[in-house]
Amino acid sequence: MKKTRKVLLLLLIAAMICSFASACGSKKEPDEPDKKDTEVAYTIDNIRDYVVGVDEPVELMDGTTKPLINFDNAATTPALKPVMDAVDKELEMYGSIGRGFSQKSNHSTDLYMETRETVMNFLGADTDTYTCFYVNSTTDGLNKLASALIESEDDLVLCTRIEHHANDLSWRERCHVIYAEVDEQGRVIYDDIERLLTENEGKVKYVCITAASNVTGYVTDVHRVAKMAHAHGAMIVVDGAQIVAHRQFKMMGETPEENIDFFVFSAHKMYSPYGGGAVVGPWEILNEHMPEFYGGGIVKIVRDANVKYKSAPDVYEAGSPNYPGIVGMAKAMEILQEVGFDAISAHEQVLNRKLIDGLKKMDGIVLYGDSENIDDRVGVVTFNFDDINSFVLASKLSDLGGVATRRGLFCAHPYVWRLMGISDEQASTYENCIDMNTPGMIRVSFGIYNTEEEVDQFLEILNNIVTDFRKSDEFLVMEDPSF
Ligand SMILES: Cc1ncc(COP(=O)(O)O)c(C=O)c1O
Repeated sequence: MKKTRKVLLLLLIAAMICSFASACGSKKEPDEPDKKDTEVAYTIDNIRDYVVGVDEPVELMDGTTKPLINFDNAATTPALKPVMDAVDKELEMYGSIGRGFSQKSNHSTDLYMETRETVMNFLGADTDTYTCFYVNSTTDGLNKLASALIESEDDLVLCTRIEHHANDLSWRERCHVIYAEVDEQGRVIYDDIERLLTENEGKVKYVCITAASNVTGYVTDVHRVAKMAHAHGAMIVVDGAQIVAHRQFKMMGETPEENIDFFVFSAHKMYSPYGGGAVVGPWEILNEHMPEFYGGGIVKIVRDANVKYKSAPDVYEAGSPNYPGIVGMAKAMEILQEVGFDAISAHEQVLNRKLIDGLKKMDGIVLYGDSENIDDRVGVVTFNFDDINSFVLASKLSDLGGVATRRGLFCAHPYVWRLMGISDEQASTYENCIDMNTPGMIRVSFGIYNTEEEVDQFLEILNNIVTDFRKSDEFLVMEDPSF
């Protein structure tokens, strides 16, 4: 009897301890979701709260401080806090990828491999057809891809005049390239692509085109281009650097002929600034080639006299991989999908419209690209004033106004020359001297966290600077007024 009472007492104490622990949150019910992962739903309205450094003050020329208005997101994007947290967390279980014998090494290797699926899902790529290999950036990816695909200097590639140098020079330096032109507003002329493919029937191996321009923000209809390329026996390579954080991109078109063959992008343009990126392409084609990039991790066996290489994707990833870059990229993809590309694109349209309408009201403004129909533009707006040096203006925007823009030719010189009406011959005068008087534009490029208030502040700051400028001795006219 005494013993039974003792047992009952012990059971009672145990129950009390359990219920206390559970009330304090130290015990999780088996099916209770982890709060940390679920309590935040990332949306276009709250994402600014999760951008690293968004409120960090910067010092202006007069010694005052204020948070930077960051309108330079086409160059690179700041980190998102959940991306940073995901990288920090994974570093606790970090071990060598594909090489070690440890729990940490196994964990890191598994995550590294699984992230290929994340990339495939993000881009709607069918894993029976496609795989992906990791790269450090779009430039890295395009160069690796070109070094693998191009077999001879006589290979023929079709690029367009809208391209960033990464998707022009990677091919131009390896083989023969022909270029489709842009129209007066800077849009790619699809008929010119068709003309070049027809005139070079069966000879063009790859059509290389950007999905969105870093100069005008134009989104190109790459699925339409894929159909043209395939009809003429070519494959399509898409530079995805400026699309991945702005619009939903799918490898598959409405019909198989519209499917994209290769897609290349960087993670630092999608809120994961740890390097990283990927090239997506068909298993079959990737396995017919290999890049000119050699080292460990890509071989089955090396003997004195012979080397046996692995197949894709491993053979494209020589050396130790950038694990934080891959972890950050996967998390960034998850967050962007949660925020939703419809919301992102609608938000960018609002910012673009507000900015363009505000700029249009300013004396002497020169806007590049179509400023009426802006539906096919991601959040990129480029402009000049016809009487003000853009280099000086961009410096003043930063020094006096705490606004980050970019000024110059944006690694797309041929495109910028065209938009500015500068002939190739005129451009040749700058060959030996690129300085502050070289023609260039100012670029505003939006991220998902920029606000309408920031656009209003920017327009006010710009207006004040331009007005003061015109009154002062600092007023600088470009050397050639036609620029
Ligand atoms: C359209 C486009 N392609 C390629 C690149 C190169 O990207 P990365 O610097 O990440 O190599 C950029 C960078 O601005 C770009 O805007």
